[in-house]
This record gives sequence, structure tokens and C-alpha cells, in this order.
Amino acid sequence: MKIKSIRQVKNLAGKIVFLRADLNVGFKKAAIKDDYKIVMILPTIRFLLRHSCRLIIATHLNKGNTAKPLAKRLAELLGRKVLFAGACVGPKVIKALSEARAGDIMLLENLRFDSREKKNDKRFAKELAAPADIYVNDAFAVSHREHASVSAIKRYLPSYAGLLLEKEILNLTRVLKPKLPLISIVGGAKIETKIALLNNLAKKSHRILIGGALANNFIAAHGFKIGRSLADKTSINLASALVKKYKNIILPVDVLVAKKMNSASFQVKPVNQVKADEMILDIGPRTVKLFVSFIRQAKTIIWNGPLGYFENIHFKHGTLSIARLVAARSTGEAYGVAGGGETIEALRQTKMEHYIDWVSTGGGAMLTFLGGEKMPGLKGIVK
Ligand code: 3PG
Repeated sequence: MKIKSIRQVKNLAGKIVFLRADLNVGFKKAAIKDDYKIVMILPTIRFLLRHSCRLIIATHLNKGNTAKPLAKRLAELLGRKVLFAGACVGPKVIKALSEARAGDIMLLENLRFDSREKKNDKRFAKELAAPADIYVNDAFAVSHREHASVSAIKRYLPSYAGLLLEKEILNLTRVLKPKLPLISIVGGAKIETKIALLNNLAKKSHRILIGGALANNFIAAHGFKIGRSLADKTSINLASALVKKYKNIILPVDVLVAKKMNSASFQVKPVNQVKADEMILDIGPRTVKLFVSFIRQAKTIIWNGPLGYFENIHFKHGTLSIARLVAARSTGEAYGVAGGGETIEALRQTKMEHYIDWVSTGGGAMLTFLGGEKMPGLKGIVK
């Protein structure tokens, strides 16, 4: 595998760089909830600044949020001024850039404010590229999207990987070519978004441990009652096909059930004894013990998705026990990789996330990459 990295660019000094970042952070009112993605891009920004580049930084944000608060946070973290363009393309951007000097940073407005971004519109991509000399993709987390600033823009500028993108690719590739045994832990919900991942990991893993709402589909596929647990027919059929194909899928043997999601009253039960009015909300203690016995054998561990409804204090024990163990084993016993928004949130709660060898910034992108699927943002940059 070859990565066209910014570290290989000759004559980088003084260039105007279009840096595509993924600073898609959560907000609570106007305040940034978690700046993990912003902190992770700083090495690339600092690298480019050391080479006296002028930077145009662009990102998307969900839920129609403006990128303005990001400029302030970036400025605080970098200890230098970050200009907010208030637009993505057009006269405002051109004017601000004409006034920029080496080392100046300008942040564009949320790219998705322009409907052409998601359409991978070539004219929009050309307009984004117009003021720059080179394009740097450091937005692994959105590289599975065929969007103008991720895909089409590469037609118009010499394109390279940023330092974060490079690290994501190298670390995730290590999971696909693992030191054996590989133990995969997959939780969360939405089996349809994880089919490629489950197929690819099941082929490579010694065992693939399933928890969270995802497990409900597998439990039902085995013919056990799951009561009112989150699941649907299509997802159960998908799980059924996987169970037929792979014999290394390990399911919960006991579960925590309650009659309501936010109930404080719950029971631990063998997985085959869930009643019609109950829902499965966490893996049980025997399952934790079983999962631990496999994880302790691993030389490589990959984890994506919580193993229960961990937002509720009564149903977080399964997820947090496994999070602590994955972190502890990552201190030399195994090579540990985790990713996905909720997984990172669970790891944070253990305060052990720094022990994990690599915490990916990608949610959907990590699933796509580990599922062995093509990623438009990597085309021409990673070969
Ligand atoms: C993410 O949050 O996973 C990335 O920023 C991609 O966002 P999207 O799913 O809205 O494309």
C-alpha cells in the first residue's frame, strides 16, 4: 500500500493548501461538546504552518450548524488567529485570501450549506479548489462519502493525505492484516450498516463477539424470544445469513432485561428466557466473563459499538467492563483499535481511552474501511 502523503510534497513552502478536515463535532447550544476531532487535526495544521503554507480549512457539520465556533476553538488550540470566511466559495473567500500572508489560516463555512457539496458537483469542487495550490485530505471520517470537497475536488488539484489520514490508514490496515488471534467486538445497532464489516471481520477473526441491539437480531435468528427488544424482520434475516455462514460468532449467554428503557428495575436472565413484555438492554455477567476469556487470548482487538444501552446507569456495566479490558490489554498484550462515536464516549467514561493503540475518528468511515469497501476520498491518494 502506498500513501501520497504531504510529507512527500516538494516545495511545500508558501503554498496555499486546501485542507479538508472532518471537524463534525457535537454542540450543546452553541458550545462544542467534544473537541477530539479538532485536536486530532492539529499535527497536520502545525506541519503545514512550519512550511509557511497559507491554509484554507474546510469541514462539514451536521444539523445545519455554522462552522464559526470552530474557528474560535482552533485559534485557542493553536494560539494564533483563525479567520472565519463566512462562506465556502466566492468573493468573500477570494478577498480574505488575497489579504492572507504565510502562516495565515482561514476556515470556510459549513460545506453542506451549499447543496452542491453532497451532489459531488464538479463546478462547486472547481470553485473550492480555485484559490489553492494543493489539496490535502485529512478527513478520514468523511472519506466514505462521494462529496465535492472529498471526491470531485481531486480533479483540480494535486492531492495528498494529511498526517491524520495517514495514521488512520496505517492503524486500520494493521487490523486487516492482524497479528493473530484477532478478536472483534461489534455492538451498537443498525446491522445493515455493518454487514460488510461483519463479513470481513468474521473471515479474519478467531472470534467475533456481538452485543448491543445488534445482538438482538442474532438472538432472534437462533429462534429465541427477544420480547420488545429493538430488532426488525429484515435485520433478523441478515443476522440469520451470517450465523449460517460463520461459526465463530459469539452471542450473549445472559442479558439484562427491563420492561421500559429507562426503568431502574431490571433482571439478569439466560438469553433463552426473555418474556414478551421485556426488552434486552445489556449483556449479563456470564457474557462479560465469556467475552473476557476470548479477549484475553487476543493479539489484536478491534471494537466498534456499545454492548448495551450504556447511556443509562443500570445498563452500562457490560460496555464499560469490556472497554476497561480492551484498554488494559492494549498496554502491550494486544494491539487495540476502537472507533465510532458511542464507543469513544464509553471509553471516555472509563478514563482509559489513552491506553488504546488507536482510537479512530471515523464512525461510518471506519466501518467502510474495515468492511473492505471502496472510499471515494482515498481514490488517487491511497493505492
Ligand atoms: C461522522 O460524523 O461520522 C462524519 O463526520 C461523517 O458525517 P456524515 O455521516 O454526516 O457524512
